[in-house]
Amino acid sequence: MKTTVSLIKADVGGWPGHMSVHPKIKETAREKLSLAKEAGLLTDFHVTNCGDDLELIMSHDHGENSSDIHELAWNTFVAATEVAKELKLYGAGQDMLADSFCGNVKGMGPGCAEMCFTERKAEPVVAFMMDKTEPGAFNLPIYKMFADPFNTSGLVIDPAAHAGFIFEIWDILEHKKVFMSAPEEMYSILALIGAKSRFVIKRVFPKPGGKLPADEPVAVISTDKLYEIAGEYVGKDDPVALVRAQSGLPALGEVLEPFSFPHLVSGWMRGSHNGPIMPVAVKDAKCTRFDGPPRVTALGFQLADGSLGDPVDLFDDIAFDGARAKALDVADYMRRHGPFEPHRLPLADMEYTTLPKVMKDLNERFEKME
Ligand code: 13P
Ligand code: 13P
Ligand code: MG
Ligand code: MG
Repeated sequence: MKTTVSLIKADVGGWPGHMSVHPKIKETAREKLSLAKEAGLLTDFHVTNCGDDLELIMSHDHGENSSDIHELAWNTFVAATEVAKELKLYGAGQDMLADSFCGNVKGMGPGCAEMCFTERKAEPVVAFMMDKTEPGAFNLPIYKMFADPFNTSGLVIDPAAHAGFIFEIWDILEHKKVFMSAPEEMYSILALIGAKSRFVIKRVFPKPGGKLPADEPVAVISTDKLYEIAGEYVGKDDPVALVRAQSGLPALGEVLEPFSFPHLVSGWMRGSHNGPIMPVAVKDAKCTRFDGPPRVTALGFQLADGSLGDPVDLFDDIAFDGARAKALDVADYMRRHGPFEPHRLPLADMEYTTLPKVMKDLNERFEKME
């Protein structure tokens, strides 16, 4: 039996500012998805938020890119936007960039991570959600999970994981993709994905000939670039990811382990600053301090015949207190740079913000030098 898990998200309005999602927005989404479950379109769903992003986690048997599922997500965001407008939430409909639905949410503003796979005897799936950052923020943790033996001991000691994994990497600027094999091409993979604003890991696959079907992804990351779609900067493209665990894949604890290091990501205030990503419980996914620091949440599901069941809030654990303390330390350190790089993003990345408007007036005052 094949199951599809779709995690589709959008910022339909912040409460207040860009901090979190109003409970009425989540209620509206739950009502819509409940009706779809009753009608048999969805097997199961869970609605949550990370910062100001509304997250729809859905399971069904319609495969990836199903127009019915995408239309359901779109219509849910449309209904939620209406509520956001009534409540005068901040940036109501922020990620709703198209006027009407045309088959697939991709390119319309919302972000989407979905994968279709044969459900194993036991199928643990983790939904990761980030706010105040960009898809490349997943490069480091996904690499560590599936390619770094110092993170994932299963790569060394589990015969089913020993062959390594295939990484599908997208060049989001040139709209090209490449499949690369770890561990054989580790250094080349790192040459690309270290440049995280351009090269992003889109999917991870098992190697052919192993325990798992090689054409069914074991991890997927949303990569939709808002500024490319909209033509003008409308907020960072806060990413989400789905990762399967155990039995030939990284164990649950190996999937979570990379987040014990709050690595630096781009986003934060006005989508224009570098800062640490802080792993938090869903209740703490509120972007308060300088609209951050960037947050990541993780919900663990144990699938049962397509049902998601109740999630476990995986970062709601003292084991991540150290990472949070480190993140806050690094946040203090970075903040002390104020408007200076490398806290503020380099100029090339500021092209899509409001900075060019400030620069325009200044440009007129520049004189040519001898
Ligand atoms: P169990 O022995 O509890 O199944 O755990 C195995 C494992 O992989 C833990 O990382
Ligand atoms: P979001 O992309 O989460 O809406 O944040 C935008 C912003 O400007 C935060 O300061
Ligand atoms: Mg917002
Ligand atoms: Mg956001």
